[in-house]
Amino acid sequence: MPIKSVPMTGQIERSRTGTAGARTFKVRFLPLDVTVDARESQSLLEVCDTYRIPLEHRCGGNCACSSCRIIVHRGLDRLSAQDEDELDQLRDLEDLPLYSRLGCQARVRGDVEIEIPA
Ligand code: FES
Repeated sequence: MPIKSVPMTGQIERSRTGTAGARTFKVRFLPLDVTVDARESQSLLEVCDTYRIPLEHRCGGNCACSSCRIIVHRGLDRLSAQDEDELDQLRDLEDLPLYSRLGCQARVRGDVEIEIPA
């Protein structure tokens, strides 16, 4: 599936309804500057997998490695809440940016802009 690039607007974005009736949201990836559609409740790792956007995931998305960490630039409150397992993984990291999440655990609830660290 090709990567689509759609400009983001500055406002809180409303959900859209996809072809199967599922709500979809925009996920913008930095520094790639690529914006894709994500189904509601898809994890960011699943979104990356769908669009072939590289995001490490050494444990296969089981919240056991933290290699899938991302930095949220916009829309932290539009991702699913963190559970204790995710918080434990993030606590083990040094020099962690404030708005970090695990891509395999953060699920899309609205439009977001994230950075995949180098
Ligand atoms: S892929 Fe290992 S914690 Fe997300």
